[in-house]
Amino acid sequence: MGKKVVIVISFLIFCYSTVILAEDQKKEEDDPKKKEYKEIMKSIDLNYKAMQDFMGYYPDQLGKKEWGTFLTGGQEISRLTQIVLDKFSRPDDETYQKLMKDMKKYAEDIAKAAEERYTGAYEDIQYSHGRMRNACKRCHNHLHIQIYTDLYPGKAEEPPPPPE
Ligand code: HEC
Repeated sequence: MGKKVVIVISFLIFCYSTVILAEDQKKEEDDPKKKEYKEIMKSIDLNYKAMQDFMGYYPDQLGKKEWGTFLTGGQEISRLTQIVLDKFSRPDDETYQKLMKDMKKYAEDIAKAAEERYTGAYEDIQYSHGRMRNACKRCHNHLHIQIYTDLYPGKAEEPPPPPE
């Protein structure tokens, strides 16, 4: 084969693979279900982080803003998780289903405590928030999704938690 032929063939292969790659990327972006799932997770994440900002206070340091964040955060995560359970259930993956339901339960517990503000409500909120974080982490580990940047700062090396 002449040098020119090799160059032409290489060029054609290069063009072809570029087209294939571009199509794959487009497919991923275009899949509306995947996109919706991501949007929901992003909202869950925002609510989770808003509450995270008010962890580790003394109860008497909490004002209207903090309690309000716990209430709406819990309600929102519960609502969003229910959408996931309805629209994106994975009946053949028990672990996924269980962790999703756990997340919803802890979100509900947070909202309830924030609404009633009984003595010890804040301690309960911190507990539920910690358990919820565990559910996030366990599900992502289970599915081999790595989201460490903001959610679990500095924990990238941590092995998956043992089953309960
Ligand atoms: C039962 C499973 C499960 C639980 C629980 C869970 N996630 Fe996820 N999460 C997923 C899946 C699946 C994806 C991947 C979505 C995709 O990329 O298609 C994801 C993706 C994400 C993303 C990336 C979204 C993006 O832009 O790609 C963030 C952030 C996230 N989750 C935050 C959280 C937080 C915060 C919690 C807990 C409060 C949580 N997740 C709980 C399954 C879960």
